[in-house]
Amino acid sequence: MRTVQFTAYGPPSVVHVAEVPEPHAGPGEIRVAVRASGVAAGEIAIRSGRLRDLVPVAFPFRTGFDAAGVVDEVGDGVTGVRAGDAVFGAAGFTRRGANADHAVLTAWAAKPAAWSWEEAGGAAGAAETATRVLDRLAVAAGQTVLVNGAAGGTGAVVVQFAVARGATVIGTASGHNHGFLRSLGATPTTYGPGLPGRVPAGVDAVVDCAGGALPDLVAIAGDPARVVTIADFAAREHGVHLSSGATDPLAWHGLAVAAALADEGRLRVPVAAAFPLDEVAAAHELGETRHARGKIVLVP
Ligand SMILES: NC(=O)c1ccc[n+]([C@@H]2O[C@H](COP(=O)([O-])OP(=O)(O)OC[C@H]3O[C@@H](n4cnc5c(N)ncnc54)[C@H](OP(=O)(O)O)[C@@H]3O)[C@@H](O)[C@H]2O)c1
Repeated sequence: MRTVQFTAYGPPSVVHVAEVPEPHAGPGEIRVAVRASGVAAGEIAIRSGRLRDLVPVAFPFRTGFDAAGVVDEVGDGVTGVRAGDAVFGAAGFTRRGANADHAVLTAWAAKPAAWSWEEAGGAAGAAETATRVLDRLAVAAGQTVLVNGAAGGTGAVVVQFAVARGATVIGTASGHNHGFLRSLGATPTTYGPGLPGRVPAGVDAVVDCAGGALPDLVAIAGDPARVVTIADFAAREHGVHLSSGATDPLAWHGLAVAAALADEGRLRVPVAAAFPLDEVAAAHELGETRHARGKIVLVP
């Protein structure tokens, strides 16, 4: 089967399709014939070599954290899912390899009928991340949440999860994405210098999906403990928690929450662009701009 991988750090052109043996579902796992899979911003950063001192990897590095597809193997001990079912899910933090013809998933939920395959393919990582950070901040109805970097593949889902919890959400994005943020249920503002002056008082929690703004975000929240970043490796200097799969237990219950919200018409996974698997380098080029609106996905 085909898989996406890179064997050295470098520009988008180092990421390529390779032929490899098919993986198989082990105990507690399922395998899907992939219909769409997500391009992870974190893997774009890993590929570039920028994170080499922070995130050591072994080559070849097979990419892809989340995927959607049709179940074609069910591992021992798995219940509630059968061959032929449509699901979305994740390959696990260390295994990855979801940008492929077949992917082994360690966490999954039924694919909502309302979602296209492209939406479902990019959903799991964002749903897990949104749940993990909003749980950590105990975001609940009546609170006000600021999402920095709200128009990206992860931020757009964090916004909708926070709205679904009954929070009032303020999101940052470039001006041309403000209508998009309103459509997700957030009040938009621009990011960059002077942010504290553009955000009303009374923000209870801040989710940082962009990085580079922690002093302002701490000032807005009034307490570094009320800020969680998923994107800023300087977090510790500011007393802020950097949440990742390496620091926190992954919140897989978020997949079922996402499916339920989607079935109620309350969660979209905005798709910035879908590329054929063998055009993965172009997908990485788009991701590297850091201005994609929503998720970038790969399709067979
Ligand atoms: N730790 C974790 O568990 C975890 C999980 C998922 C993602 N992440 C990380 O979180 C970050 C976001 O992921 P993503 O999937 O949302 O990436 P993404 O889709 O590439 O994000 C693109 C978005 O970032 C916005 N943006 C660019 N520069 C910004 C800035 N200076 N301030 C605020 N927003 C800015 C852009 O908005 P405009 O186009 O409107 O300017 C665009 O909508 C990445 O660094 C990724 O590696 C971490």
